[in-house]
Amino acid sequence: MERQTAEIRAKELQALLSGYNYDYHVLDSPSISDQEYDRLLKELIDIEEAYPDVRTPDSPTQRVGGTILEGFQKVEHRTPMLSLGNAFNEEDLRDFDRKIQETVGADRSYVCELKIDGLAVSLRYENGFFVQGATRGDGTIGEDITENLKTIRSIPLKMKEPYTMEVRGEAYMPKKSFQALNEQKDENGEEPFANPRNAAAGSLRQLDPKIAASRNLDVFVYSIADVGETGVTSHSEGLSLLDSIDFKTNKERRVCENIDQVIEYVEGWNEKRPQLPYEIDGIVIKVDSLAQQAELGFTAKSPRWAIAYKFPAEEVITTLRDIELSVGRTGAITPTAILEPVKVAGTTVSRASLHNEDLIREKDIRIGDHVVVKKAGDIIPEVVNVLEDRRTGEEQPFYMPTQCPECESDLVRIEGEVALRCINPKCPAQIREGFIHFVSRNAMNIDGLGEKVISQLFSANLIIDVADLYLLTKEQLIALERIGEKSADNLLKAIHVTKDNSLERLLFGLGIRHVGAKAAKTLAQHFESMERLQSATREQLTEINEIGEKMADSVVTYFESEEARELIGKLKEVGVQMEYKGTKRAEAGAVESPFSGKTIVLTGKLEQLTRNEAKEKIEGLGGKVTGSVSKKTDLLIAGADAGSKLTKAQDLGIEIWQEEKLVKELFE
Ligand code: IVH
Repeated sequence: MERQTAEIRAKELQALLSGYNYDYHVLDSPSISDQEYDRLLKELIDIEEAYPDVRTPDSPTQRVGGTILEGFQKVEHRTPMLSLGNAFNEEDLRDFDRKIQETVGADRSYVCELKIDGLAVSLRYENGFFVQGATRGDGTIGEDITENLKTIRSIPLKMKEPYTMEVRGEAYMPKKSFQALNEQKDENGEEPFANPRNAAAGSLRQLDPKIAASRNLDVFVYSIADVGETGVTSHSEGLSLLDSIDFKTNKERRVCENIDQVIEYVEGWNEKRPQLPYEIDGIVIKVDSLAQQAELGFTAKSPRWAIAYKFPAEEVITTLRDIELSVGRTGAITPTAILEPVKVAGTTVSRASLHNEDLIREKDIRIGDHVVVKKAGDIIPEVVNVLEDRRTGEEQPFYMPTQCPECESDLVRIEGEVALRCINPKCPAQIREGFIHFVSRNAMNIDGLGEKVISQLFSANLIIDVADLYLLTKEQLIALERIGEKSADNLLKAIHVTKDNSLERLLFGLGIRHVGAKAAKTLAQHFESMERLQSATREQLTEINEIGEKMADSVVTYFESEEARELIGKLKEVGVQMEYKGTKRAEAGAVESPFSGKTIVLTGKLEQLTRNEAKEKIEGLGGKVTGSVSKKTDLLIAGADAGSKLTKAQDLGIEIWQEEKLVKELFE
């Protein structure tokens, strides 16, 4: 083909295919068959390969996923990507409306939109061309995922008008695609995604854009970050403008003139939500007028002109078949409910955490009971209550054993703790869990050393303490079942390289009580070597901002123990280095933790951990937990049935988290 003909044909194909894309992915009304589309796309790919300079940045060929990236660049958002305050019931919505009226008067209207359960993305356009797409990140700095976003066909690579603007929206995975993806993962023996949100986020964080391209993701855009040149004066006009310049907005939105209409909309969608082809986790309510939005302004974290109503977590009924016990790394015995598998919030659930014996007693949970199970977001499912009127008399009450299910030594209940513990330091379960922790991603990060291999090494008596890992030989490994020469070599290599890890990994890996990954980093940055840390006094430790008393005690006690000294000596002998290799504290600034330096109040009933546990964990991450809410409070954690502290915090405009979010920040 002649160059000139090629250019003309390429232009024609680009326009045709972009139009078909729009019809299919934005309007949801395909205008040609998939085969025909693929045929034309192939023709265009061939021409662009022969004449690369006819390829334009908005060519539909740019959506199939090109080169694999080495990593994601950081992107600083021009305007921060904020989050929204939450409402959980009608009263919260009426409160929101009251406050709005106090500022802007009674003449207000709201736009209600579905709150899509995916991940927020920002899309930057220059002169109409899509130039950069990013994740929200921490709200100020996100990651450049342009190449992955280009594969989402409802995102125009070129919008209809040559605007320079930033559009924001929610990337998500439709329910059907999620199901298909998990089925495929299951077939391949891979771990399935917990929910469509994780699946979408996981897909957009792939360095190979071809993977994102294969995942069938979609986007609903919900705002223009800077309406500047567009001349729109209300949010609803902004959405209509987005529609008219080829974006995909969600059509279920409604303008409401008062809060009663808002509540009606919210209730309606709570009912209809299972019928949607994508997951939503609530409704977003926004003041429509942009002038009023400006008048209302922002708190530190979120706009005052919008709120997210969160649907109550879905609840289902199933039977509790059994209660299983496991022994954790610290010897805590945790009961888990084994359930008749049941679908809830998009996934099949067959286990639920029962936390501790108190909870089993309190809820009078018996084996064989019909139970109500709920799953809020991607948090571990839990048993809400028992349906006593469905009992047949066959149900068996459950009693915690008095002996460790693994080593049979007597269990103890330490004062102030709810959990029963096995305190036998030689308990094989604890040791095995300790190994799993030592090799885990945030600790030494030994690739390819999973639970199964650890159990094998353990049973073959090849490892007694973690230092033994570094003494393993190829012969020993090959002698184990299912380990060939190649995997033995790889494993040894993976173990060997971790000798050079920076100190904080080892510190975290040792599993000193209360020392999480972030605290380990703080300690490593501060003391810079194991030797110095080992001789640190309690006072020296508590002087560090993020180190609370409990953690200081625990660190001192740990290093005083003969066993710990021996282990550290042995680790040194086998060549594990024990210096901090990162940036020094003074240069690095504060260690990242959402709790560092913050004053935090806990209120209401926490369900997934006790108050004490929450306090310890938060203090371990550098937060200060106090009893009462004041202007100095930075954050309130509100459990169930929170009362006056919550109201006060709301009045003071203090940031408020539900337990769900706390658990997420503490454990993820
Ligand atoms: S508006 C200032 N509209 O919900 C924040 N957000 O915390 C403006 N979301 O991370 C957000 N659907 O990713 C808005 N229709 C919608 C939304 C929506 C989902 C997400 C968004 C944000 C979170 C709110």
